[in-house]
Amino acid sequence: MPADPFRLGWFGNLTAPEWRTGWSNDALTWTDCRYYVDMVRDMERAGFDFMMLEDSLMVSDIYAGTAELELKHAMYAPKLDPVPVVSMLAYATEHIGIVATASTTFYPPYLLARTFSTLDHVTRGRVGWNIVTSSEDRAAQNFGMAKLPEHDLRYEIAEEFKQVADKLWDSWEPDAIMADAHSGYYADYKKVNPIHHKGRFFEVRGPLNTPRSPQGRPVICQAGSSPRGRDFAAKNADMLLVIPNGIEQMKAYRDDIRARAAGFGRDPDDIKVFFVIAPVLGRTDAEAREKNARFQADEQRNFEAQMVHFAAIMEIDFSVLDPDLPIPDEVSTNGHQGTFEGWKQAFGGPDPGGRLADAGGEHGARRFPGHRRRPHGGRDGRGRRRRVPGARPAHQPRVHPGDHRRALPRAAAPGTDPDRLLAPALPRQPALVLTPEETIMFRLGWFLGNGFGIQPWYGEWAGSSMHDWPTPGLYVDLTTSLDARGSTCCSSRTPR
Ligand SMILES: Cc1cc2nc3c(=O)[nH]c(=O)nc-3n(C[C@H](O)[C@H](O)[C@H](O)COP(=O)(O)O)c2cc1C
Repeated sequence: MPADPFRLGWFGNLTAPEWRTGWSNDALTWTDCRYYVDMVRDMERAGFDFMMLEDSLMVSDIYAGTAELELKHAMYAPKLDPVPVVSMLAYATEHIGIVATASTTFYPPYLLARTFSTLDHVTRGRVGWNIVTSSEDRAAQNFGMAKLPEHDLRYEIAEEFKQVADKLWDSWEPDAIMADAHSGYYADYKKVNPIHHKGRFFEVRGPLNTPRSPQGRPVICQAGSSPRGRDFAAKNADMLLVIPNGIEQMKAYRDDIRARAAGFGRDPDDIKVFFVIAPVLGRTDAEAREKNARFQADEQRNFEAQMVHFAAIMEIDFSVLDPDLPIPDEVSTNGHQGTFEGWKQAFGGPDPGGRLADAGGEHGARRFPGHRRRPHGGRDGRGRRRRVPGARPAHQPRVHPGDHRRALPRAAAPGTDPDRLLAPALPRQPALVLTPEETIMFRLGWFLGNGFGIQPWYGEWAGSSMHDWPTPGLYVDLTTSLDARGSTCCSSRTPR
């Protein structure tokens, strides 16, 4: 086991798996989640630190005013609620952390605090909460609101929500449970305290009616990238997920979060930053490239999926924009602002020639459903998400005896923190260092969610990923491959 192991997570969603190309026979039965039980067990065996499940609360019909493409590609719907599924995944495993998404805009804080306290108990201290504020008016309309609160206001609400949740989680003192047969007291009423919270947005009496949980509170995950989102994350999060946009921006993001955390009186090392990547795997570099090319060749599908994805989370109907032009300056979002800004820069920023059409993947798009105009075909190298060709066979089970010896993931060291894997994992650990020239530190996460370039449920790499990719050898191969490319690479050879 290397002295400086790194952390790995998988970020996915409870949506339809690969169903089009024969790599999955779960097109109808995935909803029983046995599929995810297989995955989480494999991940645990492979030394992953956590599985994280995203969520949203709507069926989007923003793109061209219809849910047609959303449902055609099963982008965000249909999907399952990750929160109850945590129990099932935890019951099937022993060590791996399980992070579920829940929105501060729609949950009442008492219910959220109680639910995650319960999950922390049933997972024996392995649950995390991905705090989101939600991004869609369509979701708000499922909760009696016409629109979402404004972007920064949502973060204000989330701040107070988190304070209330913290108070509730602390409403049971650590030694409140006596279970003393002699005195006849199960719990000491003097150590179970109402919180009497009265704030700008919430009024909650407390105490919680669930006892203090193994971690005290769930591990807090966050993925905001706007200035307000970064402040929220720097103040509250134990771990962050970020979509990397080149080495310099990765460094800048991490430095910025650490500086903000210090500004809030936190030790910056208490926050772990996970960069999200979507590798393409193959036995050889050439095979991986060939797979990627095959995937990219489905231009129409890629473009539709990207448009539907971004239309859903930004609530912008891209079908009314001219695909041959940059995204107009006046277009803005009340949803994912950080992501939108990055995307706008990549596909229509100040750089002459930028155009919306390039958002459709490596080759742009051929036909624009719902668009008034047809774009030119063609290729533009800017803003592409770097594919990471790995060296990974796609078809057979691949747990090699030597893999565990070479494995880098931290959790591959059995016996460390057996009861509370995720929480003890997050406090201070030596960081990874990117090479060759730059010295920047980051944590590697693996994102297989929808819409960020590769569609995980589509194509052979998804088939292999769903069932047999989570073995340590894969990550050794992946790390080697990343390292060889010098930019989006990771290495443990220069530990800090
Ligand atoms: C990797 C990643 C995963 C995310 N997962 C979710 C999710 O599951 N549900 C959700 O509503 N928002 C999700 N978000 C959105 C963020 O929580 C955040 O709301 C969004 O990035 C907008 O924040 P910003 O405007 O501060 O950038 C995710 C964002 C990223 C980058």
